[in-house]
Amino acid sequence: MKIIVTDQSGKTHELEAIEGWRVMEIIKDYGLPIKAECGGACCCATCHVHVDEEWQDKLYPATEEEIDMLDEAMDIEDNSRLSCQILMSEDLDGLKLTLAESALP
Ligand code: FES
Repeated sequence: MKIIVTDQSGKTHELEAIEGWRVMEIIKDYGLPIKAECGGACCCATCHVHVDEEWQDKLYPATEEEIDMLDEAMDIEDNSRLSCQILMSEDLDGLKLTLAESALP
């Protein structure tokens, strides 16, 4: 499985993804610029990503907790999600997203 991640400078990376891992962990593990300050506890919004339109409906809907946290992030758009709240599964093989400016370490 893989995910396609565009970083804040516009460079695209293809990352090997493991089932059950949080997308945030995969991105961080590859050393891409994502702060993810709270380590995946849904309480910082520094793992903010913009999900490509074609993938938005395939994701598990955001919980109220995630929506509240996103409200505090900058550069919010309709396709904003917290990458620590997206669990990798076979359905998401090929997932495309862009790291938000507000995720920069
Ligand atoms: S890592 Fe803090 S909300 Fe995702």
